[in-house]
Amino acid sequence: MNTGTTQKPAEQDHNQDGQQTFTAEENRASRRRSLRLLGSLVKPVKWQFLWIGIMVVIAQLATVAGPAIIAWGIDTGLPALARGDELPALMAAALLTGAAIVGGVLTFGYVRQSVVVGQRMLLDLRRRVFRFTQKQDLEFHEHYTSGRIVSRQTSDMEALRELLDSGVNVVIGSALSMVFTVVLIVGMDWVTGVVMLLMLIPGVFLTIWFQKRSREEYRAIRTHSARMIVHFVEAMSGIRAVKAFRKQERNEKTFDVLTDDYRNASLRSIMIFGIYQPALRILGNATIAVVLVVGGFRVLAGDLEVGVLVALVLYSRQFFMPIDAIANFYNTFQSAAAALEKISTLLAEVPHVKDPENPTPMAEATGRIDFEQVSFRYSEDGPTVLKPLDLHIPAGQTVALVGQTGAGKSTIAKLISRFYDASEGQVTLDGVDLRDISMEDLTRNIVMVTQEAYLFSGTVADNIELGRPGASREEIEAAAAAIGADDFIADLPYGYDTDVNKRGGRVSAGQRQLISFARAFLADPKVLILDEATSSLDIPSERMVQEGLTKLLGQRTALIIAHRLSTVMIADRVLVVHDGRVVEDGSPQELVSAGGRFAALYQAWQDSL
Ligand SMILES: Nc1ncnc2c1ncn2[C@@H]1O[C@H](COP(=O)(O)OP(=O)(O)O)[C@@H](O)[C@H]1O
Ligand SMILES: [Mg+2]
Repeated sequence: MNTGTTQKPAEQDHNQDGQQTFTAEENRASRRRSLRLLGSLVKPVKWQFLWIGIMVVIAQLATVAGPAIIAWGIDTGLPALARGDELPALMAAALLTGAAIVGGVLTFGYVRQSVVVGQRMLLDLRRRVFRFTQKQDLEFHEHYTSGRIVSRQTSDMEALRELLDSGVNVVIGSALSMVFTVVLIVGMDWVTGVVMLLMLIPGVFLTIWFQKRSREEYRAIRTHSARMIVHFVEAMSGIRAVKAFRKQERNEKTFDVLTDDYRNASLRSIMIFGIYQPALRILGNATIAVVLVVGGFRVLAGDLEVGVLVALVLYSRQFFMPIDAIANFYNTFQSAAAALEKISTLLAEVPHVKDPENPTPMAEATGRIDFEQVSFRYSEDGPTVLKPLDLHIPAGQTVALVGQTGAGKSTIAKLISRFYDASEGQVTLDGVDLRDISMEDLTRNIVMVTQEAYLFSGTVADNIELGRPGASREEIEAAAAAIGADDFIADLPYGYDTDVNKRGGRVSAGQRQLISFARAFLADPKVLILDEATSSLDIPSERMVQEGLTKLLGQRTALIIAHRLSTVMIADRVLVVHDGRVVEDGSPQELVSAGGRFAALYQAWQDSL
């Protein structure tokens, strides 16, 4: 089991940037991974990107052409008009209108198209992340908390959406508009070009300041929002424990602090922008004033035409307008890049339990289970939970596992279900290593029912049907009847059609257990594992299930982990597990007469009756 390479402390997750102490090599690898992911997202829409690019260029050209047309109209059109020649003035007006229409229509086109493309990429990514996280093994979900997954699916996707929705067209449009504007200004009058350049110097310093400060706040916002989400998800998914231990107040306080941090960072970020934007506007207007004064004198001196001066003033205005958008874009870009990096890191997680490439076909197993010298650790540096274990369970045998909490019973069960792979040795079904059997064959042949008995939203019938998708209503009802669940189901408001998550459809822990038995019965696996599956049943329900249980066990190989000896006594064979080893092995009667741990347990039970 290798968990060392991909496991990161949750704290690092809150960092939004490269501040983590990664080596340069790791950083490069992570950037390459991000780029590869981006590439795979862009590939299906690359022609649309090209199309958007063309529209942006033409739209910007049309917009930038405006002042030049005005200059021509004033300097050529007006004198001609004075001479009685209306054509140039009319042409200028027509050109101006045409440019405005072309610019407007194309801007609409590219804004719309980039939103469509952006959403398509996001949809693709969202689905990939969902599928990926769902098919990961248990080990992954143990170290990658649901809060972090939610954070990937929400705030990180949001950061990418912001970039894709507005960022790209804003920055390409703005940058192009600035470049075109500068070219035209210098082309019309280099003196004005120099003036603008000088005025740009304080603008550059202002922008550097803004960028530095706003980057900090932007990161803080993302960090705080991720913390908020993680805390929220954890508080809500553990709500029972929260209530049981009166943790509400403490959780509330933590959440208050987190939301406060979030608000403060947001406020600071808005304040910074609130200083930057007006300052930039003042600078822009000052530039216009300087251009007007300098240009005015030059017009008087006869060095410059009036129309050109008007155009230069308009261009100066245009030049300063997109700067703040570009400065702001940098933040959007930064957080989107960080988000993409985190998502690509998530997608790069390698599952330890893998579907075999060339599986050994196993349509119908007999159900023989063998542990060959199996030892197991949950993590590379963790303690050995199973000492080398040899265990042979013939097909059809009912085996009960007993032992203290922490002895390793559930671990044995999880290895048979292949939730984990053995660290050393092998677990086999019908003599075939579980690692060589496809997950599909494995899940059909081996089913585990645990104490959790999770019900999905949907009706009772839906939940039973999960055992064998496509089963008919008769089969579902027969399965429920076989294990004795039909009585309580009939009492539910809508019987089998009762929604288990709706008011009135709520079922008790014991009833949930019965539904999951029915599900397992319908699945009809060759190997059945019950890990404390009857623990949440009260004595009367357990009696009721006892009969169903015998039916459920039937001819299959069964592994029962139970505390109640009434359940254990129906087994063919009992294994006493202690500290990762099987210390007693035999039929219940044999073990009782042997006088070991099990005999002591049995005696205590007899005394309590
Ligand atoms: N997911 C896990 N990660 C690390 N250690 C675990 C995990 N699950 C169980 N363990 C450890 O493995 C040992 C055996 O646990 P388990 O098989 O659940 O015991 P049992 O089911 O007999 O009560 C215990 O010491 C437990 O702390
Ligand atoms: Mg257990």
